[in-house]
Amino acid sequence: MHKLRFFSGIALLALSAGGCGLAASSPERDIIVPAEPTLIDFADPAAVTGLSTRTLTGRDSSSSRYVHIAYPELADAPALNKALRARAQRQLRDFRERTKGSVAYPRPELNVNWQLAAASPKAVAVRLRTGEFLGTRWDNSTRTYWFDPGENQAVGSTGLLAGQSALDALAALVREQLTERGSQVERDAVTGGGDQFDSMAFNRNGDLVVEFDDCQIGTCSLGRLAVAVPAGQVAPLLSGLGRRAQASAREAVATGYVSDDEGAPLPRNNPAAVSNKAGTVDCAKVKCVALTFDDGPGPRTGRLLDLLVEGRARATFFAVGNGAVAQPELLRRMSADGHLIGNHSWAHRDLSKQPTSKITDSLARTADAVAAAIGQAPTLVRPPYGAVSQDLRNVARDMGYSLVTWNVDTEDQRDGTAADIANTVVRKAHPGAIIRMHDTDRETVDAVPDILKRLRGKGYSFVTVPELYGSARMQAGRLYRSGSEPSRKQPLT
Ligand code: NI
Repeated sequence: MHKLRFFSGIALLALSAGGCGLAASSPERDIIVPAEPTLIDFADPAAVTGLSTRTLTGRDSSSSRYVHIAYPELADAPALNKALRARAQRQLRDFRERTKGSVAYPRPELNVNWQLAAASPKAVAVRLRTGEFLGTRWDNSTRTYWFDPGENQAVGSTGLLAGQSALDALAALVREQLTERGSQVERDAVTGGGDQFDSMAFNRNGDLVVEFDDCQIGTCSLGRLAVAVPAGQVAPLLSGLGRRAQASAREAVATGYVSDDEGAPLPRNNPAAVSNKAGTVDCAKVKCVALTFDDGPGPRTGRLLDLLVEGRARATFFAVGNGAVAQPELLRRMSADGHLIGNHSWAHRDLSKQPTSKITDSLARTADAVAAAIGQAPTLVRPPYGAVSQDLRNVARDMGYSLVTWNVDTEDQRDGTAADIANTVVRKAHPGAIIRMHDTDRETVDAVPDILKRLRGKGYSFVTVPELYGSARMQAGRLYRSGSEPSRKQPLT
């Protein structure tokens, strides 16, 4: 997890009690380092009560395109939840339309992850970061939704401003800021119209940070382009919500949080994650399968954990870091119940399209999130979409990870019912099978009691992935698809 330095832990508790909690975090690591004033202090989602995460994959994840859209859901913010859900559904629909009949390789991909750009009783902001890959490069864009808890109202970022004339005045201030940015930026393209001002938030000084999408007002190679309009200049242009949001951004710092991006790295000496019930089943003597659940934790994970306890089954959860960091209590429960937690990347982008540095970053951040929650670091990686490149194998080897895919796919992201999913699992299960499911999928969770009952009736035990191999240790950098993998010769690369 990204590190926070608190001047006072009490401040966090006091603010949490007021409704939405509040903390400051450091900027995301996968952006070109911008000038200091354009950094936004993201709030720690784990400090916000009533927050869960949603994942949209469309339940039709065809093999021709990859989609993973994640967004938060807040118990006390129905209007915000509705706006985020509508946005996710619209993005999915538009992407499907654009990639209809596509046979491109590498596959087109849509990925959306999120941060909290504000989380106080006065204002909440969700920053959605979209990456779209249509064959040659990633196009990144951001959009920030604001929520006014007092009014139960969700608005786009322009809701921070007091109407069109304020937007026009802001455009002039932004153009002024851009004069120092060189000829690659089309300063005059900034008019405040369209969706140019769809991602705005305040930095710790109360300056308004305006973020532009890739290629929006400059050449695409520029990376993240953002400006910070000084607090005093923007103040007269703000709406009521804008003024409250600006004040709470400053209060967050005054009450004692600073991000600590330059500080010492988190200790990476956590013990390797292992099921606390490992060794209780001998897969050399009894029939074993490994149930694996990807993409969580999510709103259905708690119920799934109940069902697994009732069915006396253990499983391997491949957690997405972006969701894990928001819901550490679910990870703690998994661990306490004897399940094993693996690494499913930070934001679920196809790692086989990524360079080594981004693969490393994505896996390390997720490992930090898991370790911060349970005190153990994952040893297994399930690559998003099961896509493996040589670079990924090399990184896995260097970081000490085994790669785990599957040999039984329930295809639970297609349009099947719970009964279809249960029938598929029961039909395809065999000793040593690694079965892939998703704890983000309602039908999958509904199918679990039936799966456990029927497979147990056939004599199966449910173990975590490493237990399939008994005393043979899983090797770093190696790809495992099934419990019989070690018997096969496989280049270690
Ligand atoms: Ni996945």
